[in-house]
Order: sequence, then C-alpha cells, then structure tokens
Amino acid sequence: MAQAIQMHLNQALMRIPRRAESADRSTLAATYVAAGSFSAMINSADHQILFGRRGTGKTHALLHLQELLERTGDLAIYLDLRTIGSTGGLYANPAVSPAQRGTQLLVDTLESVHDRLFAHAVDGHSPNQDALLRGLDALVSAATEVEVIGETEQEQTFGDAVERECSAELSIAPNVKAGARHRTSATASSRRKRTGVEQHRVLFGPLSRAVQAVADGVRPARLWLLLDEWSSVPLDLQPFLADLLRRSVLPVRGATVKIAAIEHRARFFVPLADDYLGIEVGSDAASAVSLDDALVFDQSPEDAQAFFRELFASHVRPILASMLRTAVPGASVDAAFHTGAFPELVRAAEGVPRDAINIAALAAQHARGEKITTAHVRRAARDWYLRDKQAAISRDEDAERVLGALVDEVVGRRRCRTFLLPARDRTAAIDTLCDARLLHILRRGVVDPRRPGRLYDGYAIDYGCYVSLLAGDTAKNIPADVFTFDKAVVDLPRLCRSS
Ligand SMILES: Nc1ncnc2c1ncn2[C@@H]1O[C@H](COP(=O)(O)OP(=O)(O)OP(=O)(O)O)[C@@H](O)[C@H]1O
Ligand SMILES: [Mg+2]
Repeated sequence: MAQAIQMHLNQALMRIPRRAESADRSTLAATYVAAGSFSAMINSADHQILFGRRGTGKTHALLHLQELLERTGDLAIYLDLRTIGSTGGLYANPAVSPAQRGTQLLVDTLESVHDRLFAHAVDGHSPNQDALLRGLDALVSAATEVEVIGETEQEQTFGDAVERECSAELSIAPNVKAGARHRTSATASSRRKRTGVEQHRVLFGPLSRAVQAVADGVRPARLWLLLDEWSSVPLDLQPFLADLLRRSVLPVRGATVKIAAIEHRARFFVPLADDYLGIEVGSDAASAVSLDDALVFDQSPEDAQAFFRELFASHVRPILASMLRTAVPGASVDAAFHTGAFPELVRAAEGVPRDAINIAALAAQHARGEKITTAHVRRAARDWYLRDKQAAISRDEDAERVLGALVDEVVGRRRCRTFLLPARDRTAAIDTLCDARLLHILRRGVVDPRRPGRLYDGYAIDYGCYVSLLAGDTAKNIPADVFTFDKAVVDLPRLCRSS
C-alpha cells in the first residue's frame, strides 16, 4: 500500500502544470499559495507593475486575483498580450515603421479590451447595461482616433550612391495632421535606418473620456485591467502602450491597472526633449511590486520550505484525488522525499516555483517508484540547468563571458557559490544572467561597515550550475551562503579583463 502511494505521489509530482494558463480557474484558486505580503499588496486597488522572472507566478497571481475580484462582484479583464491582434508577427516586423506597428498595437489592445467588456455587457451581468453599452460605443469611436505619429528616417543604398528620405508628420491639433516629405534622389530601397521611438508621440483624442464612461457604466463594480506578458510586446513599442495607459486609464475613477512584466525586458518610460512617453514607474500613481524579491527566502530557509511545501501540497492534492478517486489520508508531500531531500529541492529552486516544479518532476522520474533522495534532486537540478537555463544565454557572448569569469573565481577558486558585487558594477550582462535564473540576487543594498558609502548586492550562482560543475562529486555538501566582506566581494571588471 505504502509503495503504491509512493508511486502515485511521484506521478502526481510529474503531472503538476508548468504554466498557470494551462490550469482552469477553479484549480488556480485552490492551488494558490500566498508568498509573504505580496498577495496583500496586489489585492490593493492601486495601479501596479508586477515584476517577476519567468516562472515566478505572475500569471497565477493575476488569474487568482481575477477570480477573487469576480467573487466580490468587480469586473476584472485579464488580457494576455501575446494573444492580441490577428496580424501575426506585425508588431516585430522591422520592415514596418514603429509608428504603424505602434498604432496597430494600441488599436488591437483597445479592441481586445472592448470585446471582453462587450461580452460582459451582453451577458446581462451589468446593472446599468445601457450606460455600459454607451461607454463601449464611445470607446470604439475613440479607438479609431488613436495614432502613433513621428519621424522615420530612411537611409537607402544603391551601388555607391546613398540617398535619404525623411518624412515627418506634424500634429497641429487633434485629428489635424500635416505631412512633410523631403527627398534628395530616388532609387530602390535596400537598407533602412530608424531614428527610434524617442521621436514619436501618441495622439489619443477623446479616449480618456470614453474609458471613464465605461468605468461609470460598470459601477458600482470596479473595473480592473490585468495585463499579462507585457515583456512579449517588442521593446520599442512598450512605451506607446504605457503612454496609452498613463493618459487614458490611470486617471480614470473606478479603474485599476495591474501589469505583469519581466523587469529587464520591460521599457515603460522614454524621455522626450520636453516631456516623456510612457509611465514613470514609482510615480505616475503606478508602483512596482516584485515577486522576485517576495520569493527570496535567504534569511529564513524555514519560510522557503513552508512556502514550497504548501505549494506542492496544494498542486498534488487535486491530482492525487483524480488519480485515486478518493482522498488519501496522511499522504503528505514529505512522504515523497527522504530526509534532507525536500530542503535540497527548495534550495535548488532558488525561489522560482516553475523551476521547483520541473526539478521535482525530474527527480520523481529518476526515483521511479521509490522515495526521492538528495542525489535525485541534485541530478534533476543539473539536468534542468543544462536543458533549460544554460541554453537561454547561449547566444549572448557577453553574458556567457561574465558567467564564465564568475564561475572560475567563485566556484573554481573560492569553492563557494555566493558573492558580493558593488551595486555600481551591475551591468546588462548581470541583468541578463539574473533574468535567465543563472544568477540570483539574495540580498540588496549590503553596506560595507568600513566604507558605509558603498553599497553591494549579494548574489548566488545558480544551484544547478554549481552542481553541474561538480558532476560525479555531487555527494559533497553544497557550501553555505557567505556574505562577509573580506571573503565575498568580487571585482568583476578586473575578472573580465583577465579572463
Ligand atoms: N504562489 C503560487 N502558488 C501556487 N502555485 C504557484 C505559485 N506561483 C507559481 N505557481 C506555479 O508555478 C508555475 C509557474 O507559474 P506562472 O505560469 O504563473 O509563472 P509566470 O511568472 O507567469 O511565468 P512566465 O513569465 O513564463 O509567464 C505554475 O504551475 C503555477 O501554478
Ligand atoms: Mg505567465
């Protein structure tokens, strides 16, 4: 009997969905585990940007929030920005000007929001259906006037001759535009140069009024706009969408916006000569909340274990019940692991739920019908690192070089995996490595007691990376995390010069 339950537990661990959008809403509500104060924060009616690396639970948090809001009678529109528009690939098509792609993106986004609201209105859920439908009419006509305008400089090459064509659209008043064109010669185009998003502005016309009319139409309910997968929008178009939100939705009474994004793949703000485009995160009434930070349990391994124990229990429970068609008394997740193996899994996950789920599934596979051991977890973490994480930076030479230099110094020479880096040495390559979950920030703003003016961040090299380097030697203990100044500070510029 115990053997059979063991087998089922391992199978259930392998079957946990890897992405929140693949589970149904009631399962998501039942499996959600609150991470620290994060849940309380995102439940507030403030406009917020929810930052989190891949797999940290952004989609699960937004869908769970949607479920809670609907239960209290509010109207929550969840929009996965990967799915808007029908013009496949247009937003990232370099042959189309940013102004055209931006306009299309804004119009498609408004259309998707409109469609969801319209479905709600005709479902008859709205107590003030007429007002909502009038607001939606206004939204449709306002959407036709939304336009990104700006300069595009084209550089065209034909043989030895280089010619230029500049075109600029000037906005004189809303809806009145004058076009100017200057061309020095004419030949076939073979190369294009863009002046960049900085030259663009967005015309909104009466959009803000229309959104207010919609929000008034759903009263007394509150209108929530939950935008997921922000970072899937091409980087150069993100400020346009942010600008649309800042000017047309953020000021609306009775509306709240939540955006889920990956921090270093998000661009909310572009300064202009006399103004700016987009949202100034932190002001503009939109604050940032970080799932990455909420899931760092560096100071308390017990909290980390409690969070992941609950997460696995909540996911495994419904799967076991459907497999066995009966409740299994006393079948806890701990029963799947030998002593010491579950804390090892929590360390290997480095605070990322999807990595925890994938590593647990691989470990359960290695264990077959037996209890999972520490060696299974380490092998699984190594496989997951090689299969998923390492490949993510294989085309980024700079990030690869920085990781190589850090691994040589920290793992190779110092025989540990944690280190301190002056906050000012944080480069784009370090951000890329953090996004790819090859480095993890465990502590921010560590102060050197001898030089209090200098701030450092405490990092760990990914557990999977560490154990993959110790292949064959995995029975040894992983060293404890050390952040003492005389041992942990790394001079990255020097390391990179000498590597
Ligand atoms: N707080 C949580 N409670 C329960 N399960 C969670 C939690 N956070 C994440 N998960 C689970 O972890 C997996 C990954 O979560 P999710 O798909 O929401 O990540 P994500 O941040 O949206 O990733 P991506 O950036 O790739 O879209 C899912 O299976 C989800 O159910
Ligand atoms: Mg997601």
